[in-house]
Amino acid sequence: FISSQSFQEEDLRDRTVVVLDVLRASSTIVTALHNGAKGVIPVGDMGDASKISQNLDSPHYLLSGEKDGVKIEGYDLGNSPLDYTTEKVESKTIIFNTTNGTKAIKRSGLATEVVIGSFLNLNTIVEYLQSIENDITLVCAGWRGRLALEDLLCAGNIIAELVNGTLPEYVQDGAKVAFGLYEKIGDDIEDAIRNSNYAIRLKDIVSEDDLRYCCKRNELKVLPVMKEGIISDFHGE
Ligand code: MLT
Repeated sequence: FISSQSFQEEDLRDRTVVVLDVLRASSTIVTALHNGAKGVIPVGDMGDASKISQNLDSPHYLLSGEKDGVKIEGYDLGNSPLDYTTEKVESKTIIFNTTNGTKAIKRSGLATEVVIGSFLNLNTIVEYLQSIENDITLVCAGWRGRLALEDLLCAGNIIAELVNGTLPEYVQDGAKVAFGLYEKIGDDIEDAIRNSNYAIRLKDIVSEDDLRYCCKRNELKVLPVMKEGIISDFHGE
């Protein structure tokens, strides 16, 4: 596990990287793909988003994302996963711009492979990671360079499943910390996340329903993999 601001090239090269931004970018991507979105293009900022969208055939694309948790003016959708219904996203490609999540995904681009993880698709991610030979880096998007409890806890859950309860010695200290958090909190995800910095910081902006939804484990079978800058669902392929 590493935080999204502290990448060394060696953390990415020849590795499969799982980017975790539980609240809410990863959960939104997983939900959008589950509900039939064709793909998600993560962008680093509003400038990139408008450059890409200008050159596209608009009926097939949605411009979406948030700043400080709020939908950006003029965008089609914000960052509430519950807004990414089949009705709105089916067959669309989503240009997605968020404060931390999409930046962490972009920064992971040097990896051999980038996949997107959340509690919602935890099992699908674990099964996939068990099937590959690559070394694995779990990137916790966090918030403006700081650690976010929900991302570390999700990393801890993934690690616990992968190592079957016992940590091998070779894992990095970050993975040991994430595993320790998992051991302390166990399955009581919602309670822990309710007291996280994110939940407190955005309590007037992000709904209870969003928080509850993003804490659900193994709700969706989606394997979001980024290829040539576009994230699509590879589950079952
Ligand atoms: C982010 O990328 O920082 C988050 O997804 C913010 C949010 O939940 O809106």
